[in-house]
Amino acid sequence: MSKNSLKTGPDELGYYGEGENAMGGIAVGETLMPALHELSQGFEEAIKDQDFLDEYAYHCKHYIGRPSPLYYAENLTKHIGGAKILFKQEHLNHTGSHKINNSLFQVLLAKRMGKKYLLCESGAGQHFSATAAVAAKFGLPLVGIMGDVDVQRVNQNIIKAKHYGAKLKAVPGTLKEAITEAIKTWTTDPDSAYICGSVVSAHPFPKIVAFAQSIIGREIREQSMEQEKKIPDMIIGCVGGGSNFAGAIYEFLDDKNVEKVGVEAAETAALSHGTPGIMQGMKTYLLQSNDGAKSLGGNSLGAGIQYFGVGPLHSYLHDQKAVTYTSATDEEILNAYKTIAKYEGISSALEPMAGAAYLLKIAKDKPKDYLICLSLCGRGEKDLDTIEKHIGKDFE
Ligand SMILES: Cc1ncc(COP(=O)(O)O)c(C=O)c1O
Repeated sequence: MSKNSLKTGPDELGYYGEGENAMGGIAVGETLMPALHELSQGFEEAIKDQDFLDEYAYHCKHYIGRPSPLYYAENLTKHIGGAKILFKQEHLNHTGSHKINNSLFQVLLAKRMGKKYLLCESGAGQHFSATAAVAAKFGLPLVGIMGDVDVQRVNQNIIKAKHYGAKLKAVPGTLKEAITEAIKTWTTDPDSAYICGSVVSAHPFPKIVAFAQSIIGREIREQSMEQEKKIPDMIIGCVGGGSNFAGAIYEFLDDKNVEKVGVEAAETAALSHGTPGIMQGMKTYLLQSNDGAKSLGGNSLGAGIQYFGVGPLHSYLHDQKAVTYTSATDEEILNAYKTIAKYEGISSALEPMAGAAYLLKIAKDKPKDYLICLSLCGRGEKDLDTIEKHIGKDFE
C-alpha cells in the first residue's frame, strides 16, 4: 500500500492525516487507555489470524446471509430515465441492516479476547438488535444503551433485542447521549467489551468498524464486475456516524474515478455545517457552539442519522476533498421512501433514504451507461409508525 493511498488508515495513535488538521485520535480519560490499548492489540493480532478471519467469513455467510445482493433497480432506472441504478441490499441481512457485519466481527473479537459480557449503544436500535442477536448466538450477556427519544420511535428493535436476552438501559436524549453514557459505563468497567456501533469514538473503534464493514465494498466491486462488467461510477450512502458508507466506499478510496457521495440528515449535518472539535473520544467535525462548550443540532426522522458528529475518517476524506458530503431534509427522505416503495416494492429504513434523496436529484442528468450504487442499508419495519404518522394518507 503506498503512502499516498487513502486506505492506509489511521496511524498508531488513531489519527487520519497529519499535523494539526489530523482527525481521530484517542481523547479519553486515563482509566480507559489500558482498555483501548488492549483492544488495539487484540484487533491487530486477530486480523493476522487466518482462522479468526475464516470464522468471521463463515458466520457472515451462514448467519448474516452474505453476500447481500447487488440489485438492478430496473423500474426506478426506467422511471428516472438517466443513470443505471443498483442497490446494495444490506437490508436483507439477518436483523435487517449493515450493523450486524460489525456486531459479528466485534463480538467474535471480544470472545477471542476472553471478554465475558458486552455493552453497546444504539440510535435506531439496529445496532442493539444486531449485537443482541450475535450475543445470544455466542452466549454473552449484553446491555444496550439508548436515548429515551429513540426508544419510543424504534421499539421493534428493542423488543427483538429483549427476546434475544439483552437488557436495555435508557438515558435522556438520543444517539449522542447514548454514546456518552456507553463510554462512561465502559470507563467504570473496562473488563466488559464495548461493541461500538459506528466508525466513531476513540481509536481503535473507527478502524475496527471500517474494517468490519469494508466487506460491503469488496462485494460491490466483485458483484458489479460480474454483473455489469465494470465498477460503479458513483457510490452513495447515508451518514450518521458513517459506518455503512465507510464500508461501501473503503474498497474504492483509491479509485479516483469513482465518485463518492455521503448524505447526512439536514438537521445534524456535521460535515456541511460543523467545525472541527473534540468530543466522544475523537477529533472530528461536530455541530457545536462557537466556544466548543456545547453540542448543537436538531431532529431528523431517521434516528440512526440524527448524530451531531461524524466518524473521523469522513472528516479526513472531506478535508482531502476525496468524497463529497451533502444532506437531505426529512421531506426529501420521506419522498424518496415513497418513490422506492412504489417503483421497487421495497420498504426501506428512513436513514438510507437520505442517500436515495440525493440519487433522485442527480440520476436523471447522467448518461444511461453511468452506474450508480446506493447503499440500501436498512429495512423499514422500525420506521413504519413514523412513516404512517407523517405520510400514511399519501398511500390511501
Ligand atoms: C438503517 C440504518 N442506516 C444507517 C444508520 C447510520 O449509521 P452509520 O452511519 O454508522 O451507517 C443506522 C444507524 O443506526 C441505521 O440503523
